[in-house]
Amino acid sequence: MSNYHIKHLEEYFKVYRKSVREPEIFWEEIAEEHFLWRKRWDKVLSWDFKKPEISWFEGAQLNITENCIDRHLVTKGDKTAILFEPNDPNEKAQHITYNDLYKKVNQFANVLKQQGVNKGDRVCIYLPMIPELAISLLACARIGAIHSVVFAGFSSTALSTRINDSDCKMVITSDGSYRGSKTIDLKGIVDEALESCPDVKNVLVAKRIHSEIFMKEGRDQWLQPLLDQASTECEPTLMDAEDPLFILYTSGSTGKPKGMVHTTAGYMVYTAYTFKNMFQYKENDVYWCTADIGWITGHSYIVYGPLANGATTVIFEGVPSYPDFGRFWDIIQKHKINQFYTAPTAIRALAKEKIEFVEYYDLSSLKVIGSVGEPINEEAWHWYNDNIGKRNSPVIDTWWQTETGGIMISPIPYVTPTIPTYATLPFIGIQPAIMDDKGKELNGNQVEGRLCIKFPWPSIARTIWGDHKRYKETYFSTFENNYFTGDGALRDATGYYRITGRVDDVIIVSGHNLGTAPIEDAINEHPAVAESAIVGIPHDIKGNALYGYVILKEIGNTRDQNNLRKEINQIITEHIGPIAKLEKIQFTNGLPKTRSGKIMRRILRKIAGGDTSNLGDTSTLLNPEVVKEIMANVL
Ligand code: PRX
Repeated sequence: MSNYHIKHLEEYFKVYRKSVREPEIFWEEIAEEHFLWRKRWDKVLSWDFKKPEISWFEGAQLNITENCIDRHLVTKGDKTAILFEPNDPNEKAQHITYNDLYKKVNQFANVLKQQGVNKGDRVCIYLPMIPELAISLLACARIGAIHSVVFAGFSSTALSTRINDSDCKMVITSDGSYRGSKTIDLKGIVDEALESCPDVKNVLVAKRIHSEIFMKEGRDQWLQPLLDQASTECEPTLMDAEDPLFILYTSGSTGKPKGMVHTTAGYMVYTAYTFKNMFQYKENDVYWCTADIGWITGHSYIVYGPLANGATTVIFEGVPSYPDFGRFWDIIQKHKINQFYTAPTAIRALAKEKIEFVEYYDLSSLKVIGSVGEPINEEAWHWYNDNIGKRNSPVIDTWWQTETGGIMISPIPYVTPTIPTYATLPFIGIQPAIMDDKGKELNGNQVEGRLCIKFPWPSIARTIWGDHKRYKETYFSTFENNYFTGDGALRDATGYYRITGRVDDVIIVSGHNLGTAPIEDAINEHPAVAESAIVGIPHDIKGNALYGYVILKEIGNTRDQNNLRKEINQIITEHIGPIAKLEKIQFTNGLPKTRSGKIMRRILRKIAGGDTSNLGDTSTLLNPEVVKEIMANVL
């Protein structure tokens, strides 16, 4: 019996048990029945978390693009693979079929080869959310080049650091990008970055905004004329199961960004399998993940996972606020989206706007609505469930990381009963462990501690590019024989998991461990509050006290602020207890956020603690200007 598609809770438990008791047999069956291999593996799994070394399907040979494209051509050649929705709603959407995708990827792969890119070479991709972005990833994979996508919102310094760290020989970019009503000069940013990247010999430039740009003789070439001359056939390069597929940078709590390395076979198997189940994807469904392909969510759940399942996946170029705050809902109506996957920060931002923006559109096509990237607070969860899912489409709160490659803990829609703020149960094959501070595993239910994974899964990142020592130290040294996630979690009386936030965000007040997420949840329940962030500040008696930054909805701005402070603390007292009351509450117009929407608590912590001497690099923030405002009004 195929265990590929889980449809009932009993089935989940049965398959889960099998995946834990006989992991090799389980994953072998999944791999065998659902993918195309050129050579079978000799060994399903070998691993040693001490070294650490992990390999899946060793000895196998394959090419992931044959799995994502070629094998669908016979039955789905005319099906839309990529549905491109441009920034401007008046520009026509593009339907790229699997047949088209095959030709485009092969042409691009041939261009890469002509330009001297070989198997194992690193190619940096710095593109906006246009079809060329997905196609360039697949073109690299077709010939075995390792792609390193850098989110096209990063600055030139961030870009050059990443290019140099993995020694990329080529950059693929565009003349510019659209972002709402603005255009961004991407090529100018690349030019600046390349001043400090002497090893980049080749830059391919896609045309998007048709602006006049500088093209450096002997280095820069327009992409389209090269593609036009290239053959639409390109024999896929045979890859070993453990050959690197891509590098993707993620920031650590300290130091330079970490180039996480994902390899071919395990990543393919796990992203495909999780995609099928997490989104309960059925033939003819239209699936949309709003993430940028510059992040792991886009790699795994816009490109590889959906295409490996022969799905239709949407690429949206724009932003949720353009031309107005109804844009997401407009797109859902227009393309009859069935599965929608977004981030809590987007949900909260849209929940702040008038509900008419939602009500105007028909969202009845939706079957699954997902969330990823940070804990989704209770208020946002309910808003999403009530207004977008209409209490008819399960909300899946999916917990995972760049390092994990795929979704790790999440409800399976229509299978796992959901509870707000709970990521619920581990996915098939995932063996979480909750540890206490001393490194002892806390067995049983109703425990809280640090979240580890004690057994390998196919898509775990294998190393940090060029720094295996750091990989070992960061993930495998805190708890012996375990992968340490850096997150805190609790397991409730029923065995459900709730992610409580990064453990570096845990604040100990008078000896009590307080997670920031539940406190923020409570504050956000106040009708005048739009968003909040809590940090710890040093306190003579308690050790730490809590400092809250609160963004008010419009109605809040007309209220007496001291009364509001009292009410907020009242709510916290009700939800958590008086121990969690805030010492100080600063009202602000914004919170410093990374480009992926995460609050930079490190900066908030320093400002609240009165230490503004070294705030670190704030240039990569989405909104560096709010830092000044916060500093000016600190209490
Ligand atoms: O703290 C967790 C949080 O985001 C971290 C991983 O971030 P990144 O590597 O950028 O990947 C984000 C997209 C997969 C985690 O360590 N996180 C992610 N999803 C959730 C979450 N925290 C709580 N609930 C989630 N659903």
